[in-house]
Amino acid sequence: MKKLLLMTLLLSSNVIFANEEGKELHEESCMRCHGSEMYTRDNSKIQNNFDLRSQVSFCASNLGTGWFPDEEKSVVDYLNGQYYKFKK
Ligand code: HEC
Repeated sequence: MKKLLLMTLLLSSNVIFANEEGKELHEESCMRCHGSEMYTRDNSKIQNNFDLRSQVSFCASNLGTGWFPDEEKSVVDYLNGQYYKFKK
């Protein structure tokens, strides 16, 4: 039982960590052109996780962020957790 609790704690702190990273990267690079209102606009083009990944990838490479795939993924996770809430 203790082990299970520990595992759960470790896992959830990992998630929080990933989201922190995504949040920071996003604030650093992505708030120049649009704020979060872009993600909640009525006519959002983003319908699913795949769209979201493509759009983040598109914006990130346009910007030349030089993000590693795992950094890009943490931003996708952050945006999904915060705004889009698609199921994986
Ligand atoms: C150079 C300006 C610019 C920067 C910087 C930028 N974006 Fe965008 N982004 C846009 C524009 C313009 C659109 C709207 C595109 C459209 O409607 O076709 C957009 C749309 C989006 C959307 C789709 C929103 C929706 O729900 O329809 C996402 C997601 C997104 N950007 C993510 C990011 C991320 C992540 C970053 C940081 C890597 C970023 N953007 C940085 C210009 C930018």
